[in-house]
Amino acid sequence: MKYEPTCLEIFLTRLAFLLCGKSVYQAFADRLPLDGGEQVLDFGCGMGTVAYYIAKKLPHGHLTCLDISERWLNTCQKTLRGYRNISFMLWEFPHFINESFDVVYCHFVLHDITESELKRVIPVLAEALKPGGVFVFREPFNETNKISLIKRLAEQNGLISKDSRITDIPMMGNALECVYFKK
Ligand SMILES: C[S@@+](CC[C@H](N)C(=O)[O-])C[C@H]1O[C@@H](n2cnc3c(N)ncnc32)[C@H](O)[C@@H]1O
Repeated sequence: MKYEPTCLEIFLTRLAFLLCGKSVYQAFADRLPLDGGEQVLDFGCGMGTVAYYIAKKLPHGHLTCLDISERWLNTCQKTLRGYRNISFMLWEFPHFINESFDVVYCHFVLHDITESELKRVIPVLAEALKPGGVFVFREPFNETNKISLIKRLAEQNGLISKDSRITDIPMMGNALECVYFKK
């Protein structure tokens, strides 16, 4: 569901990014399997909290930052100004070339999406991955029903579970991080 953030929400997110950027977002970025030349999609990039760290890891690759919100996408462009290896995309469903990404990640996005929308989104993300590509999501641990649905949809769309971990996020509690690959 499309939702535009308020100025206060953007301000608070910036503050959280300044205070917890390394421990929350960089830690997640560091675990993604990147060598520097990959094509990567940040689905639901927000202000670019994770993208800020990913962009530095792709000297020969490319990062696509996608969001449903024009305002978040504009904020993300400001966070990432100066980088040349990034493009910005407003989510217009469906919009990708199939098998074009090595890595697709969703950081605190999918639990906010309705079940019916997830049934449309996950197949598109799976199709957008190259064979051998990696899909990673991190969502609040207590969103058990949504997480079960996301996992089921991932598997129904040809993604194979590779790894998962629980991480503790300051002020937000536990989060579940799951890694899938496409055969
Ligand atoms: C909680 S924020 C997380 C932002 C960022 N990934 C982070 O961890 O800081 C959720 C983001 O997902 C975006 N979003 C929600 N539904 C979406 C959809 N269907 N397609 C693309 N983006 C979506 C929102 O606009 C928002 O920017």
